[in-house]
Amino acid sequence: MAPSDPILGLTEIFKADSNSSKVNLGVGVYYDNNGKVPLLECVKSAESALVGKNAARAYQPIDGNAEYNLKVQELLLGAGSTVITDGRIVTAQTLGGTGALKVGADFLRNVIGTDQVWISNPTWANHKGIFQNAGFTVNTYPYYDESRKGVDFDAMIGKLSSLPKNSVVLLHACCHNPTGVDLTKPQWDEIATVVLNNGLIPFLDIAYQGFGDSIDDDAYAVRLFVERCPNVLIANSFSKSFSLYGERIGGLSVVSGSKDESARVLSQVKTLIRTNYSNPPIHGGGIVGSVLRDSNLRGLWDQELAGMRDRIKLMRSTLAKEIMRACPDHDFSFIEAQRGMFSYSGLQKPQVDKLRADFSIYVVDSGRICVAALNSQNVGYVAEAISKVLK
Ligand code: LMR
Repeated sequence: MAPSDPILGLTEIFKADSNSSKVNLGVGVYYDNNGKVPLLECVKSAESALVGKNAARAYQPIDGNAEYNLKVQELLLGAGSTVITDGRIVTAQTLGGTGALKVGADFLRNVIGTDQVWISNPTWANHKGIFQNAGFTVNTYPYYDESRKGVDFDAMIGKLSSLPKNSVVLLHACCHNPTGVDLTKPQWDEIATVVLNNGLIPFLDIAYQGFGDSIDDDAYAVRLFVERCPNVLIANSFSKSFSLYGERIGGLSVVSGSKDESARVLSQVKTLIRTNYSNPPIHGGGIVGSVLRDSNLRGLWDQELAGMRDRIKLMRSTLAKEIMRACPDHDFSFIEAQRGMFSYSGLQKPQVDKLRADFSIYVVDSGRICVAALNSQNVGYVAEAISKVLK
């Protein structure tokens, strides 16, 4: 038997729990204040228009829906980007952000010939397996300093500065998973300089664009690397920002030095996709493409995304306040400074186990909490349970 997945396996155990007070803070899914995964109004509207067309289901192109791919590029780089108009970026619609990472890893291993990747310590539990299965040796660079509840920037930049040329560096563009602790803009600038000067290959994972501060703010690192480095890979996902988890909708974008080079990159990416799953499904890309094409629906999406972001921020401050009310000797204000869905709570494995056994509250073993699963009905219960396991 293979071990169960550290994140999705937890949802399986949660589902089997009969305690009516149970709370799943494991998987990274946004729930609304009623504890439901929302179906966004912009998605509903785009979807009914699509379904109303009763369109036939022919195969998509290997790289997916062309309009969708262009809209992905515009979200990542900004609509006026000359990298787009110069044809220096190619995008393939993929099966979520995970699919983008996998196709990107296969491209780097099989076409570029690199075999060493550096991922942050800690990182999303699936990063290691994706790169290992693509044939990489997976190494880590320091990222999180528990004692400061912040980035260990000196150690991070020190490590990156020591890497050999053509090493792949996987970076969380925003809303770092699992810590919720992001680099500042000046820190990103320094990282980009090291990556450029040392000839490293940056691979940016952006699964939470719009969940941090705004669509544009959250794309800062992506735009910086694209401006400064000749070759950049970007894996993006709409699972969270469009609440389209089960549609598996994301994209792999590759920026290169010229239009000709981009055409060659796309030809190789298409070969990899064709031999993996042939071509992507229609529905998710159709929805996202329709919303991003239509200015009214795009405006509605911006509002709905801001609503999700603001609610998460409210839950951060409420959780911090409630824990500190119950446990005045613990400082939990760091939760408010973190960004995105997650908080690295600092809870240790025995405390995580106790939360599950005594309160049916499910947290990833590392102590990562999905703040986006809190609501006004369960946040008090969760805060009280955390304060009890802390004592
Ligand atoms: C998470 O980190 O919980 C999410 O990205 C969902 C997943 O696939 O692990």
